[in-house]
Amino acid sequence: MTTSKGTILLTGGLGYIGSHTAITLIENGYEVVIVDNLSNSSLSTLGRIEKILSKKITFFKSSIDDKKTLDNIFTNIEIDAVIHFSAFKSVTESVQNPLEYYKNNVSNFIDFLKICDEHGMNRIIYSSSATVYSPNASSPITEDAATGPVNPYGNTKLCGEMILRDLCSEQSNWQVGILRYFNPAGAHESALIGESPRGTPNNLMPYIADVAIGKRNHLNIYGDDYPTVDGTGVRDYIHVMDLAEGHLATLEYLLHTKESVTLNLGTGTGTSVLQLVKTYENASGYKIPYHMTDRRPGDIAACYADPERAKRLLGWKAKRSIHDMCLSSWKWISQKTEYQRSESE
Ligand SMILES: NC(=O)c1ccc[n+]([C@@H]2O[C@H](COP(=O)([O-])OP(=O)(O)OC[C@H]3O[C@@H](n4cnc5c(N)ncnc54)[C@H](O)[C@@H]3O)[C@@H](O)[C@H]2O)c1
Repeated sequence: MTTSKGTILLTGGLGYIGSHTAITLIENGYEVVIVDNLSNSSLSTLGRIEKILSKKITFFKSSIDDKKTLDNIFTNIEIDAVIHFSAFKSVTESVQNPLEYYKNNVSNFIDFLKICDEHGMNRIIYSSSATVYSPNASSPITEDAATGPVNPYGNTKLCGEMILRDLCSEQSNWQVGILRYFNPAGAHESALIGESPRGTPNNLMPYIADVAIGKRNHLNIYGDDYPTVDGTGVRDYIHVMDLAEGHLATLEYLLHTKESVTLNLGTGTGTSVLQLVKTYENASGYKIPYHMTDRRPGDIAACYADPERAKRLLGWKAKRSIHDMCLSSWKWISQKTEYQRSESE
């Protein structure tokens, strides 16, 4: 029997990035405990993670601010670190309802941190986003670039960072890894888990996937006159399994040093909308019809990471290609309907 390297509490661990990270952590010798209120995920994901790993996972259906449940977890399970994924993540919804976003992403997070602190749990990895950077930051973006989110969602993510940075600078017991993800895409190779947005997808890859599977007629491309390779917007897409491995590497860095870090998790390579469409067509074998429309206010030409700091400190680097992302997304989306049918029987 192999001994566990430690037990990690994943908030929002049944969501898109949390579920993939849970698999990577367990495959690398950690135990995980998941807390998720299922506000943007489904219990069936738990069964699928267990199927991939042939292992039962400790799960609590609870909000992160539910003191009774969290007290119970911290009292009865020795937790070595927290990875905090739970949050609302739609820019569009955050514009329509900023208070909901501040309540969940900031206020509930503060309640959660207080509970962690009461139990002496002061090691936390935080899901942040490239959205925290100012639109004027030039690519490749380093972690020292100016911040300046342009929507409520981005502001809530930056608020979370500020809270954690203040805790680290004022109280020496806190140790924090702030991870700024660029554009997570793709799915686990098993095609048992992947991204499942409710309603209209906010991100490009799941939208393209919906068009490929025939759920939507076409893709709108907002602007073809940017100063980029083909005029369409350029972003840094990172495979969700590379991202999961970035969490593992950050966790081990925190466990083996006394340092706190803020890191970009991206590939350092930009891909245009048209390049992504073409690659998805190749991966799926289906045509993706698109309409060119006007630029969207607030959109910028190009945004991609400088991933050097993560490489230097963690020895981590994204390995998977855009084709890998498209292929795994396509496998997931095309098999998902089949799973949903069998699970409802
Ligand atoms: N997916 C992206 O494009 C992206 C990019 C940058 C940053 N992020 C950040 O990464 C994190 C994870 O993103 P994701 O794509 O996996 O999102 P997701 O919505 O798939 O997962 C978030 C999970 O948190 C849960 N949750 C929300 N509020 C909760 C609460 N109060 N208590 C308990 N559980 C709660 C949801 O049910 C969901 O399962 C988020 O913090 C998000 O802001 C995501």
